Amino acid sequence: GPVQPPDVSMCILATDSQAGDEPVNCCPPNYSTTNIIDFQLPSSYEPLNQRKPANKLSPREIERYKAAIAKMKQLDPKDPWNFMQQATIHCTFCNGAFFQVNYPDKLLQVHGNWLFLPWHRYYLYFWERILGKIIDDPTLAIPYWNWDTADGMFIPNVYLDDKSSLYNDNRNHDHYKALMDFNYSNEPTPTPNPKPDEYDKVIKSNYDKVEKLFTKDQLAKASLFMGQPIVAGEENKTLTENAGAMEILHNLAHEWVGPVAKPNHDMGNFYTAARDTLFFAHHANVDRMWDIYSKKRGNKVEFNQPDFLEASFLFYDENRQLVRCKVSDSLSAEKLGYTYAPEVSPWEGISR
Ligand code: C2O
Repeated sequence: GPVQPPDVSMCILATDSQAGDEPVNCCPPNYSTTNIIDFQLPSSYEPLNQRKPANKLSPREIERYKAAIAKMKQLDPKDPWNFMQQATIHCTFCNGAFFQVNYPDKLLQVHGNWLFLPWHRYYLYFWERILGKIIDDPTLAIPYWNWDTADGMFIPNVYLDDKSSLYNDNRNHDHYKALMDFNYSNEPTPTPNPKPDEYDKVIKSNYDKVEKLFTKDQLAKASLFMGQPIVAGEENKTLTENAGAMEILHNLAHEWVGPVAKPNHDMGNFYTAARDTLFFAHHANVDRMWDIYSKKRGNKVEFNQPDFLEASFLFYDENRQLVRCKVSDSLSAEKLGYTYAPEVSPWEGISR
């Protein structure tokens, strides 16, 4: 059967595999197990909120976003809307803070399988709704990091201003003005930054990697892009073995943004990754890639089976209400009330 939402009263210590499996507490203090309701798609979703590239926001949009996040950071630390509480949600579903209901020895894991894209779509969706609520502006749309274009292969400037609520110092500072190379690795030693005369070559090779997500072969089978099935009672052996190509490529930016030294906090470690606001911009582009993918697949329902469509998660919504969200309601960005600003895809057809 489909993976079920956790029993949130049974939160346990999670583990940080990048720090020798050290236990970490990411249990939210305020979980109430009563009164969980089923998520409903918004009944009307016009006009759609438009997510734009972070390096193309207007000054007004930048100020609005910064103000919303500043307020989120100032909320009571135990408020489920608080920035750190929101970041902790990622830890719970990633570092093993919950066993699966009815399978007391199998941890819940939304990475490395077909739950990756739907879970993160919901995670960003509620984060966006909550930010909008905090500043009383339901039109707020989160920006995305357009690393699939040449201009976007740098950390967007708005994330580098250390006076701003978007700033996080726990990053690899060598990469602040560097072109991201999609072949980058911290191991065994960090790949050096490309020099300006190598930019064209690196950009081209990055485009190739993005384009490869959408080749005919890739498009033939949903699991190649989205990840392999997982059903209730199964546990991921590793986070990469059954991951889809989208998730594998996305891991790179985590590694590249986070510091080289273990445990690579923040972006380079799952349990802390969402403490960096750049996480949400990065994942918004991943979500946008999924949106592009769905359109290329004619918006067909992927894995048309209850094991996928009925799999469900729990999130706090913009009314501080715990809601049970099914994968089936996550398949269309538009039905959730947002869309991506039309952008050129310079990688499209690059190898032809
Ligand atoms: Cu939940 Cu970018 O990982």
